[in-house]
Amino acid sequence: MCGIVGIITSEKRNLVPEIVSSLINLEYRGYDSTGIAILDKGAIKRVRRVGAPSDVFPPEEISKELDVSESGFSLAVGHNRWATHGKPSLENAHPHFDCTGEIAVVHNGTILNHETLKQELVKLGHTFTSTTDTEVIPHMIEQKMKEGLSLKDAFLDTAALLEGSFGLAVISTKEPGKLFIVKRGSPLLFGILKNTIIAASSSNAILSYTNTFIPLTDCEYAEFAIKGDEVTYRIGTTFNKNQTINKPVETITDHSLADISKGGYESFMKKEIHAQPSVFRTTILGRYDEKTGDAVLGGLIDHEDTLRNAKGILTVACGTAHNASLVGGALIESLAGIPVRSEIASEFRYKKVPLDPKDTIIFATSQSGETADTLESVKEAKRKGYKTFGVINVVGSAIAEEVDAGVYARAGVEVGVASTKAFTAQLAIFYLLAIKFARERGMTAQEGRALISELEQIPDLMMKTLADTEKRVIALTERYTAKNIRVINFLGRGINVPVATEAALKFKELTYLEAGSYPLGELKHGPIAVIDENSVSVILMPHDELFAQNKNSLEQILSKNGNVIVITDELGAQNLKEQNVDIITIPTLKHPLLYPLLEILPLQLFAYHYALALGNNVDKPRNLAKSVTVE
Ligand code: G6P
Repeated sequence: MCGIVGIITSEKRNLVPEIVSSLINLEYRGYDSTGIAILDKGAIKRVRRVGAPSDVFPPEEISKELDVSESGFSLAVGHNRWATHGKPSLENAHPHFDCTGEIAVVHNGTILNHETLKQELVKLGHTFTSTTDTEVIPHMIEQKMKEGLSLKDAFLDTAALLEGSFGLAVISTKEPGKLFIVKRGSPLLFGILKNTIIAASSSNAILSYTNTFIPLTDCEYAEFAIKGDEVTYRIGTTFNKNQTINKPVETITDHSLADISKGGYESFMKKEIHAQPSVFRTTILGRYDEKTGDAVLGGLIDHEDTLRNAKGILTVACGTAHNASLVGGALIESLAGIPVRSEIASEFRYKKVPLDPKDTIIFATSQSGETADTLESVKEAKRKGYKTFGVINVVGSAIAEEVDAGVYARAGVEVGVASTKAFTAQLAIFYLLAIKFARERGMTAQEGRALISELEQIPDLMMKTLADTEKRVIALTERYTAKNIRVINFLGRGINVPVATEAALKFKELTYLEAGSYPLGELKHGPIAVIDENSVSVILMPHDELFAQNKNSLEQILSKNGNVIVITDELGAQNLKEQNVDIITIPTLKHPLLYPLLEILPLQLFAYHYALALGNNVDKPRNLAKSVTVE
């Protein structure tokens, strides 16, 4: 959560529009309050507001409020906050100052020992104005400078005292031509131009300047300095301040500026829902062999024996990534016959799991690659001796670096807080993994080839599904939002159950209404009590071998006057046309295990249009952040 940005330039100019635009590109990390500090005319000036920068930071107004020099200035930092310590308010918004207002800090992460540090600083006479964990940092730097340290040494000594996670940027009037950054646990990188350096929590904030950057690893800091008409940088580590580290400049190839603009769509979420056919194609590209009917996953090549000998699989993830893992588990169990246990990461990291690390392998799935619970689960699993593999979207992210090996999801940047294209990309990887495990354990080449050939058709079928179902979905959401709907449940059987769970999660995230998800056969054991004319049951029931059982459950719901929406294929639709249900028809597939890839699309659209009809912000649903880097 939270996004930070810092700009230093030898060419004086008004940096406010640049900082604002970078903050807007970081909004997916948090947006409950926002702030900028600039060093201009020898003083640090700051503007903070409650709300997202795109709503509350018109650059011209902010420039006026900051009384920016006509000749421009060289140093600015900015922050998008997603409250963890202290509620979203003006006082708690970053940048935070020391007592004198000569040091400004922006911080992403959580300082676990902030209370102890604060007590010490208060005893020494420091006055705090916020309830954040961050504010200890500028005060500690101030204290250390009072004791005689330089800004740099005070900054690094302070970083060494902090427990928890941080990505920090610091400026001070004491050294007006310098910007310092340091990180541990939170992402931080910087892009280099001759006369400007921009540092940020994510490449999204940097891409409008350059697609080449240097990422910092944990305990590394960077010092940027204006020298003549250039800005220089030096990287070191917090444990060896004087050693200089040379790091290669990397080029961003997995996404571009186009990924972080709406590209003609009215929202990022809509763009991302409609990107799924091409994302799916990209994710599977070059990762299978049509001749052998096998998956070819380059990232796992050094671990072939471990994969072949695995007797059990454990998945760990949170939210949507967990739901994708549940679908993955069902696929692997049914195609490869390997038992799969799926754990929510916040549970796994604290629990005893009676599995043998010798022959159980772990798959950690995460879009951001930053989720604290998933990251800690991987670390804990490694401590216990498990081999860990990742299904991660963000290249080079903390979890991607932590796992022993993995397969990138290749979904590109996902900006909408509610995950859509990352989910189907994660599913794509799990289909390939299931084929790989199955081909090592009895699946024939013909079976593998048949599955792969149908996977190749999926992008076109996804396009058809989106085109054919959206209007119908809109009509249904208009009808149901106009009614007094009290209960909405998503139901299915087998591999469709986790898709129902993901549909319910999407619905909750976007509409702020409680939604349930159950195996359809379980309905009669309790949940049916909530069914009446003010309920909607969304049933995922392609015409598979359990269609008759599903139809029976559907009739039970109708007999209690419940409203029913069915997601089914052409044959299913034909079969149900006499029933008093709303049907959303998706294309017919040969392999029933592939239906999740199509079913989820109208369900994402359902949540999306329902939320729009309620007037909600679909890209930034309330209370949610895209990456949750705290417990
Ligand atoms: C947060 C987001 C969810 C996401 C989950 C896991 O809760 O709001 O949309 O599914 O984190 O995120 P990850 O980046 O690990 O996939």
